Amino acid sequence: MKKLVVLTGSGISAESGIRTFREMGGLWEEYDVHEVASPQGWERDRELVLRFYNERRKQLMDASPNPGHTALAELEELFDVEIITQNVDNLHERAGSSNILHLHGELTKVRSTGDPNLVYELDGWELKDGDTCEKGHQLRPHIVWFGEAVPLIEDAARITSQADACVVIGTSLAVYPAAGLVSYVPADAPIYLIDPNDIPVPQHREVDVIREKASVGVPILKEKLLERF
Ligand code: APR
Repeated sequence: MKKLVVLTGSGISAESGIRTFREMGGLWEEYDVHEVASPQGWERDRELVLRFYNERRKQLMDASPNPGHTALAELEELFDVEIITQNVDNLHERAGSSNILHLHGELTKVRSTGDPNLVYELDGWELKDGDTCEKGHQLRPHIVWFGEAVPLIEDAARITSQADACVVIGTSLAVYPAAGLVSYVPADAPIYLIDPNDIPVPQHREVDVIREKASVGVPILKEKLLERF
């Protein structure tokens, strides 16, 4: 089976009612990203950071995968699909996709502030000050905050370099190193981009733009891939 590498961002979860980051009304309009998604913010106001992620976990529990997620999961019948997502929600998993790499962490997981290897699936939506790991250290969201390393970026680059085709869905490609992954797509592999808005496409490569939202764009992508392969 041909390998289809899918790079997704918050836009693929938009139709599930989860806000994107940089569009009008996006999450970063309401919060100062450095207050709620950075180690400095955690040190300055832990309660605010805990509240920010608790609110997003609660929202996620009321959200469901949308037809864009489902169509991607169905593509596994035809292709070896590898999803590399900047999203921290679990909607790709809940839609049935099998190979998912979370570059920026996972909202449903928490980790020890004393030992980063201690990662736990959070039971429910609330993480509180005083919740500790088995070694007694405070637990924090298992999220890659601004200014922190992206541990899985090398794995993501290796996967992307093996693509027979690549599709970018629902990301403004504004944040590195995730945005730089497109440069690892082999020269002979086609790149598709699904986004309803007119966003800047990677300059150095030919990109087949599908100017649609994910739920409409992924079925169109499937037809294009079947014509190509
Ligand atoms: N279908 C597909 N794309 C959509 C849809 C939709 N229904 N609705 C919006 N989009 C597109 C927007 O046009 C935009 O290009 O999704 C993109 C969302 O871009 P951003 O809000 O910048 O989100 P993202 O690219 O995922 O942000 C990357 O930045 O803040 C950090 O860690 C955070 O992972 C996040 C990273």
